[in-house]
Amino acid sequence: MVSGSGTNLQAVLDAVREGRIDVEIAAVGADKPCTGLERAREAGVETFLVRPGDHPDRTRWNRALQEAVAAREPDRIVFAGFMRIVDAEFVEAFAGRIVNTHPSLLPSFPGAHAVRDALAHGVKVTGVTVHEVVADVDAGPILAQAAVPVEEGDTEAQLHERIKAAERELLVRTLGAAARQGALHDAR
Ligand code: GRF
Repeated sequence: MVSGSGTNLQAVLDAVREGRIDVEIAAVGADKPCTGLERAREAGVETFLVRPGDHPDRTRWNRALQEAVAAREPDRIVFAGFMRIVDAEFVEAFAGRIVNTHPSLLPSFPGAHAVRDALAHGVKVTGVTVHEVVADVDAGPILAQAAVPVEEGDTEAQLHERIKAAERELLVRTLGAAARQGALHDAR
């Protein structure tokens, strides 16, 4: 699932294509048209779009998204820069099978502005967390983390780029481990 530029998705697509991880991407879904969806199409992967604006309320959008995901019968669902919060029923439907990547060392700096918040706090080290999704936002068992130093004078964009480089590698590594181990929590 993606919402933006999809560079994390691209890293997974590349790893699959090059046979570095034993994963098959059933489909890529999004909440809005985005570069991530284009990357999937270019790689010949099926895509789907479930927009909140096309549904009368948040609950019905959640159910539509849930149906679209369930129809692909995934073993795992990866939120790779998917910038929407799904409800508890969605999480329950795929319990233990959803992975999220977040650009901070959780539990520090949850939420949509993790990089900005870390900079504002003046931390010297931040990073990335790949974790299992539970009903609470940016909570859930941590599967893997990587630290990224904050450099003097870093802008949010510069720091986020360095975090994303670490993030792509960590996500691919964690998905590869999960594929080998079977259960997500065994990828820790
Ligand atoms: C990633 O840092 C993700 O953790 C954050 O947004 C970024 C998405 O990047 N929530 P991309 O779309 O994979 O390039």
